[in-house]
Amino acid sequence: MEIRVYDDEEEWFRSIFANSRKEDAIQNQYEFFVQRMGGPPLYSQRKGHPALIGRHRPFPVTHQAAERWLYHMQQALDCIADIDADSKIKMNNFFRHTAFFLVAGNELKNQNQGIACKHGTSKPTAV
Ligand code: HEM
Repeated sequence: MEIRVYDDEEEWFRSIFANSRKEDAIQNQYEFFVQRMGGPPLYSQRKGHPALIGRHRPFPVTHQAAERWLYHMQQALDCIADIDADSKIKMNNFFRHTAFFLVAGNELKNQNQGIACKHGTSKPTAV
């Protein structure tokens, strides 16, 4: 999946990942999805709470970006023969739900730009 987004033919989408190292992104995604799909909490052991909205704060997670991200996830899943159809549907539902949760977070961030957070911190919010 990471290889797909870093090689996307759409420059606007590829550029969102331009400042992140592919090796780090692969490790982040691997550990997060192992944990989120019910495996050992690899991601949180290394990095703490996923805090996805806060950690995506630097990136323009627009509706269009979410659709492109979901397209790559779908393609990646379609290439794996040994995941049953029901699990693929469940994973796709989770991806879509979370992607649009991040789009909503991105829209809130844009609305609040210039307004100081009442807690006066720029740390990622645990969500
Ligand atoms: C909707 C469009 C999305 C875009 C454009 C996007 C973009 C990015 C980018 C540029 C990074 C930094 C790469 C890295 O260093 O790991 C990142 C990190 C990450 N993303 Fe996304 N993402 C999207 C959706 C999602 C969704 C839906 C999930 C979960 C289901 C997710 C999970 C993660 C995780 C776990 C990290 C690592 C965070 C960290 O440890 O700093 N992303 N994303």
